[in-house]
Amino acid sequence: MLAPALKLRIASIDAPTSLIKSFTLEAEDGALLPGFEPGAHVQVEIPAADGGVAQWRSYSLINTDPQIDTRAGVRAYRLGIRREDVGRGGSRFMHTLQVGTTLTVRAPVNHFPLATPPSVILIAGGIGITPMAAMAAQLSAQNHDYTLHFSGRTRDALPFVEELRAFAGERLVLHADDDSATRLSIDALLEGAALNQPIYVCGPAGMIDAVLAAARQRGWHECDLHYELFSEAAPQEGDTAFEIELKSSGKVLTVPADKSVLDTLLDNGVDVMYDCRAGYCGLCSTHVCSGEVDHRDTYLSDADKVAGKVMQVCVSRCRSERLVLDL
Ligand code: FES
Repeated sequence: MLAPALKLRIASIDAPTSLIKSFTLEAEDGALLPGFEPGAHVQVEIPAADGGVAQWRSYSLINTDPQIDTRAGVRAYRLGIRREDVGRGGSRFMHTLQVGTTLTVRAPVNHFPLATPPSVILIAGGIGITPMAAMAAQLSAQNHDYTLHFSGRTRDALPFVEELRAFAGERLVLHADDDSATRLSIDALLEGAALNQPIYVCGPAGMIDAVLAAARQRGWHECDLHYELFSEAAPQEGDTAFEIELKSSGKVLTVPADKSVLDTLLDNGVDVMYDCRAGYCGLCSTHVCSGEVDHRDTYLSDADKVAGKVMQVCVSRCRSERLVLDL
């Protein structure tokens, strides 16, 4: 189910690094906004280009003030957005906006919830700090023990450091790839942790994969590994083009080897619900009338995948020549 849409005005814009902008969004009438748990995100509507339908981009909600209980409603939402010059354009669009612009924003949802065990390891890479900041703020407010490891290419590429330091103090540990003294060593980090100490990690896919692989290899339980991927599923070697047929109209579209079913639908004006674009939130579930699905999501059960009656169009593809979708 979709979160309700809000009309929010950009109240301020900051640039904590050369590639990252921070946006503060408020209700036009100053009303209290729906509350959120640490790890939650909103979706921002990005206007259509080239005749497609408007698209939505998900951005995590930042909080760096442990005094604020964001669950009770907030006066403003704060987003941190890194400009991606080779992305699909959402971040480039956001970086062109000025204070006073009104945006359509879906209310917060959370696919990355924080439990509150006694001691937590938070690991953030680059702009992956955005949900982690809110987690750290809540852990501080509740006097839980945690360490926040924050890694980037250089020290200057790390946003919000002063705000984080103000409440996290020595629990914030900075890592820079270009500094051998502080470069993130996942082995050293896990060496100093207790087995099955809960780990929350958010950042580039390579960093998440490396953390998960190292923790699993050391015997961590899956239930103690929590992650959120900001990047979308990348094409895999050997992916080929295939056709999708829309049952309601009989229209046939070609899904190129390097494009998802979801993007093909959106580019052709077919409005489909979606959120994570990475196969875990479930929102883009679409019924399949015929054809063999190549399931690549982590949302559907094994039984659902074997049945083949539904697919996550953001990541899954086709093993036959054509899929007929109930659209
Ligand atoms: S958009 Fe989340 S599973 Fe497809």
